[in-house]
Amino acid sequence: MQLNQVKAVVTGGASGLGYAVAQHLVANGGRVVLFDVNEEKGQEAAKALGTRFMRTDVTAEDGVAANVAAARDAMGGLNTVVNCAGILGAGRMLGKEGPMALNTFATTVMVNLVGSFNVAKAGASLMQGNEAGEDGERGVIINTASVAAYEGQIGQAAYSASKGGVVAMTLPMARELSRFGIRVATIAPGIFWTPMVDGMPPQVQESLSASIPFPSRLGKPDEFAATVAFILGNRYINGETIRLDGAVRLQPK
Ligand SMILES: NC(=O)c1ccc[n+]([C@@H]2O[C@H](COP(=O)([O-])OP(=O)(O)OC[C@H]3O[C@@H](n4cnc5c(N)ncnc54)[C@H](O)[C@@H]3O)[C@@H](O)[C@H]2O)c1
Repeated sequence: MQLNQVKAVVTGGASGLGYAVAQHLVANGGRVVLFDVNEEKGQEAAKALGTRFMRTDVTAEDGVAANVAAARDAMGGLNTVVNCAGILGAGRMLGKEGPMALNTFATTVMVNLVGSFNVAKAGASLMQGNEAGEDGERGVIINTASVAAYEGQIGQAAYSASKGGVVAMTLPMARELSRFGIRVATIAPGIFWTPMVDGMPPQVQESLSASIPFPSRLGKPDEFAATVAFILGNRYINGETIRLDGAVRLQPK
């Protein structure tokens, strides 16, 4: 798909990787609607990009279906979903204050995994009716996992479970949606410069950078956005998860 034909919903679009994706798509002539729970940052981001924001909690089934339809109407179509909304949900199973509350685990899985599925299915449900393009393509769904799906650290049981689920659902979704010409791919980022890392002390940032083989620095949100663009542009990528991590392999802690 050419970037100037993209009509995308980008979740988590108010911040970090989602914002970078939206910026890249808009800069290349695509249309974007930002979904996020953070109203203030979402409005700000939409203003900066000259695009629209719809306050959306990715875990809400009816709200997502309604807003995906509204986004389609606002853009005059929908052919792309990029799932970037996510939370860290860090915490030990047996923490200093006792065993992890089940709600912490469940909320992490709910936002990162169930939320991604929820937006993907609402998007696919509309995209299946699109006019077929080249090769019969009707749409693309791109999810965001994490390298923690493969080598989660201590304190990442919930996060890794949620991201592992995102990796695992990529192929069955791609297989099922192939009859509609809708592709599904996932990106598993390593450690990226986002507002989360910006707030860390310099020595923590340096030690994080040193752990990355090459290039020995954190990933740039632009590099994530470029990978989204690559997936959109290369129709033969389907059902796959791409690690984007400078060859980092997370240590136990
Ligand atoms: N930054 C990294 O190093 C890194 C590494 C691996 C994976 N990831 C993943 O990339 C994605 C983006 O991360 P980021 O670093 O840009 O984080 P971020 O915190 O900057 O952005 C995440 C956005 O998701 C939104 N969000 C949270 N819960 C939501 C919900 N229920 N509904 C809608 N929006 C919601 C937040 O408000 C926020 O704007 C996440 O899924 C994260 O797990 C990030």
